[in-house]
Amino acid sequence: KSLIKVALLGAGTIGGGVYKLLNANSKIIEQRIGSQIVVSKVLERNARRCQELGMANNLIANSIDEIIDDPEIDIVIELMGGIDPAREFVIKALEKKKSVVTANKDMVALHGKELFAAAIKNKVDLLFEASVGGGIPIIRPLKQCLAANHIQEIMGIINGTTNYMLEKMSQEGLDFDLVLKEAQSKGYAEANPSSDVEGFDAARKIAILASIAFNTRVTVNDVYVEGISRITAEDIAYARELHYVVKLLGIAKEAPEGIEVRVHPVFIPEQHPLASVGDVFNAIFVKGDAVGETMFYGRGAGEMPTASAVAADVMDAARNLNNNVRGLVGCTCFEDKPIKPIGL
Ligand code: HSE
Repeated sequence: KSLIKVALLGAGTIGGGVYKLLNANSKIIEQRIGSQIVVSKVLERNARRCQELGMANNLIANSIDEIIDDPEIDIVIELMGGIDPAREFVIKALEKKKSVVTANKDMVALHGKELFAAAIKNKVDLLFEASVGGGIPIIRPLKQCLAANHIQEIMGIINGTTNYMLEKMSQEGLDFDLVLKEAQSKGYAEANPSSDVEGFDAARKIAILASIAFNTRVTVNDVYVEGISRITAEDIAYARELHYVVKLLGIAKEAPEGIEVRVHPVFIPEQHPLASVGDVFNAIFVKGDAVGETMFYGRGAGEMPTASAVAADVMDAARNLNNNVRGLVGCTCFEDKPIKPIGL
């Protein structure tokens, strides 16, 4: 197709970023995939937000059915966040043979098994690169580039909000609540920021990464979780005196009894590569038996970095549509297999 119509569910921080990026880089995108990508419908309750983004009135859909029942829309981009109604809408889209791109880590971590079953059944794509690490390529590298490895360990800073907060608290001695407000105003934090500070956002992300790396379903319930809400300025000052920094890490590794998956604050020596990861940056270390040690680094949250990953997924879904190979690269990683995940 020379023109591929897509629909956007949600025009918040990330949705707005995707809309801007698809428009701003439309020429590059068209050159790379041989098709023009056009946002033809947007489902967003906040009319003012749509105006701010310069969306024409005829783009705004009144209901999900207006999108699902539109045979001209081939790709649905879900950026509403949360489980309901996002999951229902995604299933509906897949059932109507539309490929889906999502950044929704909550939904993928909890319902990945059911969603991928629907994508495979309907022979369409379900892509989720932006669900972990914002703009950093990590899902595709794990699923494809490192697929021949026996993965031994994944360890990383996978929540930008808490990384930003810990750095500000450490360097500027600022108060927890104040730095949280700053992170929220920059659009980094989740709708409910306790997901960030209590470690649940990182838990969802490490569950997704562990599922892919170990090719078995790891759910949030399998992850030991401890956030940063009990970290005080004294803890950070004490760490610094001993030449350590405090970072919130997500860790998944092989253990004799299964796979150990956890999220908690860690004292890291100042010279360690993860210690210098500041601001909203994420860094994910992956160790495989053939490749050895690799590290993925970049902006893990925010409007345009996350939009970068979403838009690339849209391009992949469009290529697959044009080449008539939708749904061929299935995802078996969310199926239950005999390896037992263990928390701490
Ligand atoms: N709240 C998340 C973070 C957004 O701070 O990392 C990106 O997933």
